[in-house]
Amino acid sequence: MKYTAVITSIIAVITLLVACKKDEPKQPTDAKPVLYDPTPYTLNHVGFPAPPISDDNLLTIQGVQLGRMLFYETMLSGNNKQSCGSCHQQQFAFTDTAKYSIGIHGLLSKRNSMSAVNMAWNTGGFFWDGRANLLRTQALMPITDAREMDGNLDTVVGKLSMSNQYREQFMRAFGSEDITANKIGLALEQFMNSIVSNDTKYDKYRRGELVLDSAEERGRQLFFAEYNPSFPELSGADCAHCHSGPNFSNNQYMNNGTKLEAEMMDLGRQSITGNLNDKGKFKVITLRNIALTAPYMSDGNIKNLEEVIDHYNIGLKESTTLDPALRFTKEKGLMLNTQDKADLVAFLKTLTDYTLLSDPKYADPHQ
Ligand code: HEC
Ligand code: HEC
Repeated sequence: MKYTAVITSIIAVITLLVACKKDEPKQPTDAKPVLYDPTPYTLNHVGFPAPPISDDNLLTIQGVQLGRMLFYETMLSGNNKQSCGSCHQQQFAFTDTAKYSIGIHGLLSKRNSMSAVNMAWNTGGFFWDGRANLLRTQALMPITDAREMDGNLDTVVGKLSMSNQYREQFMRAFGSEDITANKIGLALEQFMNSIVSNDTKYDKYRRGELVLDSAEERGRQLFFAEYNPSFPELSGADCAHCHSGPNFSNNQYMNNGTKLEAEMMDLGRQSITGNLNDKGKFKVITLRNIALTAPYMSDGNIKNLEEVIDHYNIGLKESTTLDPALRFTKEKGLMLNTQDKADLVAFLKTLTDYTLLSDPKYADPHQ
């Protein structure tokens, strides 16, 4: 009995050791060496100007592929359970549907998650308060954020360096198997710069491939037309004053009147610049795929698009930094009736990009 027990434990230990060993197959000796491959990645940006991608990190097929592996890599988090893709889900245009996202320790993020699409055209900084100037810097911040992935960059580099698959992919992308935090940032930047949303119903309309229905078309006109209190019948909602250009953002930080001065617990841009004139200002965010990304605003306080329109129509709150264009509308409101409001929502729904949501080149490569 004694001997059997000893032998059983020995077998158990050996089985454990074998199971713990990396199950990656050994390279056959005649396998081709893995080589650096700088073949450029072709970005489909029909309908957009060429993006201002930085010369020192141009997109390559292998770099984008590495970034995509990392974007969906749970080893980036402290407990190996969370990836960027946990809070930036393709089916919701690379955001989530939570008011505040949940990190690995169950803590809530301080703000609503943002849609990581068309980052290549973002020229004014990243995050609601713009605290990251470059996407490569931004990309490392959630990894070490205690409320999010709570990882340690040295540990993450160590974990990835144990994997043949990653060492080889770093070689293909950067010409060396040496894994560093800097390269992780560069690869994530490449993948996020490759995520393009340019195939919505509205894009197809702009390309002359279809016509909008009458509600969508009226909504489109209201969205772009200027506000005119003297001629209510000609007056528009002037949303494009700030949500402008093909990405529906002017890349600035503004106060769109969701808070009274006393309610501004989150100082927004001011917490980065220290400038009082930036109090309560947040990034003017893209409206692409907006129908999928409720709840709305940096604090996730607005539940649906109808309430967003009501906010701009009759709900603006006064404060010193309230945008002057919006303050101008405060007295009479945007003068939108029920039909106008429904039409604006119909237009916003034409900004959903179903191609993006199911495009296999952005999907989790580990599945
Ligand atoms: C726990 C959820 C969570 C995880 C995990 C997460 N994010 Fe985020 N992400 C957020 C939230 C919340 C914000 C907005 C935070 C803020 O502005 O303070 C954000 C903002 C961003 C933005 C800014 C977009 C813009 O328009 O400025 C990018 C890009 C981004 N995340 C990429 C990533 C990457 C890359 C990873 C993985 C390394 C990642 N995120 C992991 C929740 C998450
Ligand atoms: C003065 C500039 C300005 C104007 C005009 C403006 N917006 Fe905004 N919009 C913003 C800013 C800034 C934010 C982000 C505010 C925040 O998060 O606290 C925002 C946020 C939003 C959001 C939420 C985005 C998200 O992902 O949470 C929607 C939807 C929106 N705006 C729609 C509209 C519509 C529709 C109009 C026209 C009726 C409009 N906006 C007019 C500046 C503006």
